[in-house]
Amino acid sequence: MFHALQVSIRSEPAASLDTDLLAVPLFENDDLAELEGLDAASGGEVSGVLRSGELTRGPFEHVVIPLACGGYAARRLLLVGVRGRREFDAEAARTLGALAATVARQRHARRLAVLLRGLDSSGTVPTRAPLRVVQAASEGLVLPQLDTATHKTGQPALPPLESIAIACPGMTAAAGDIARAAERGRILGEATNHTRALANQPGNVLTPTTFASTAEALASDTGLRADVLDQNQIAAAGMGLLLGVARGSAEPARLIVLSHHPNGAPDAPVLGLVGKGITFDTGGISIKPADGMERMKADMAGGAAVIAAMRAIAKLEIPVRVIGIVPSTENMPGGRAMKPGDILTSAEGKTVEVVNTDAEGRLVLGDALWYARTRGATHLIDVATLTGACAVALGRHASALFARPDDWGAVVREASELAGDRLWPMPLFDEYLDQLKSDSADLMNTGGRLGGAVTAALFLKQFAGDVPWAHLDIAGTSWIDEPRPWQAKGATGVGTRTLVELARRMAGPRAA
Ligand code: BES
Ligand code: MN
Ligand code: ZN
Repeated sequence: MFHALQVSIRSEPAASLDTDLLAVPLFENDDLAELEGLDAASGGEVSGVLRSGELTRGPFEHVVIPLACGGYAARRLLLVGVRGRREFDAEAARTLGALAATVARQRHARRLAVLLRGLDSSGTVPTRAPLRVVQAASEGLVLPQLDTATHKTGQPALPPLESIAIACPGMTAAAGDIARAAERGRILGEATNHTRALANQPGNVLTPTTFASTAEALASDTGLRADVLDQNQIAAAGMGLLLGVARGSAEPARLIVLSHHPNGAPDAPVLGLVGKGITFDTGGISIKPADGMERMKADMAGGAAVIAAMRAIAKLEIPVRVIGIVPSTENMPGGRAMKPGDILTSAEGKTVEVVNTDAEGRLVLGDALWYARTRGATHLIDVATLTGACAVALGRHASALFARPDDWGAVVREASELAGDRLWPMPLFDEYLDQLKSDSADLMNTGGRLGGAVTAALFLKQFAGDVPWAHLDIAGTSWIDEPRPWQAKGATGVGTRTLVELARRMAGPRAA
């Protein structure tokens, strides 16, 4: 299981920070004037870089400069071009942290320190509040600590970091508050990495059974309650949609249920987190093309986000009730698999004509949304790699947000902005529902090519009852094939931090 290094807060002047790599953001029109002696320590290299303008072509360009000429305790300087001083917000700090930790590891530096300059002038924008910026920097510093090539033999991975520090000269907040913000960021970064680690695992390693036992392990030292329903219990509860998808697989289905009921939290609200947990999606009888099918090992990224977020919510002792539900199964073809035209009965009693067995996510989520309501959820959010159509509509840089009523959607969106998960609102107009009309059952499971992400969301809405509900389609954002200087390829962990920030929002002023 992934464990992130502690992030320490240092108060000595920049010149005294004893570290292998000192990361410093360079703003637009910045002369680094307050860092006296830095240019001399670099033998004039720093002023050379400033004169050349080489860090101003795009955000997060960077250079590594030895500090060999004395006056600075740090061995090397990592100078990172970021936008204007006033635009230095949580997102910029998160990226800065992740870039710094990536470069540190690539260069075999063991000790890393980040100088968060100029956090004293805050303003009122939440994403620029100094403690938020510290938290986000800490989140970013944790992300590159995850090794993604976990099944390689022989070839040694990059050496791990040994210590990480943040210094925020001039910041007026109390030392305890700064340390707590950094620790919050560490827990959120660690949660993001749990999601990434799970979603990167191959389907033969991460089956519904091992997914459930990993969830139990992640819950075990946190005070979370973990209940795993096996296939018999799923059948006893009448979850015909989840069972229908599971029919084609030799691996039995699981329903993972995690509960956070902290002492002193009021009975309501109860936040229900629901995540798609398809450990491999072949498409079933409506089988997918071979090209790229291996990516479908990550079709449980939403479920992983729910499990990792639940752990973080418990570790942060957020004073609100939360339940996390992950319906998990493979979607396989086979002699007993569900077939196009089959009609399934959901636990709620609604019947569904399965027109395409590859539209399996909405089936398992339909029963899970119902289950979350029976377990007392007063507010629902689901996270799912649901539709290729969503990836076509929004690409890699935003997940789709569907929500009703609008004010619940607004709460989710605010949480996502603090978390650095970009969401973009999509419609739920009733007219689209006509596309899901079946001649023989209450609903069809697909609505054709047009508006595929919308009709999938409308299908889920039929299972949310009257409860405020939001749906995040992360099909385009949960995985990257092209690494970035601050982000490894593979699973991104999208959604994890949004769920935790949402729980904090729901706890209101009771949350730290
Ligand atoms: N898991 C897929 C969606 C997906 C596609 C996620 C690409 C990540 C990347 C989902 O189960 C699926 O197959 N959806 C179908 C729905 C269609 C049959 C209505 C799709 O998008 O093609
Ligand atoms: Mn599918
Ligand atoms: Zn799927």
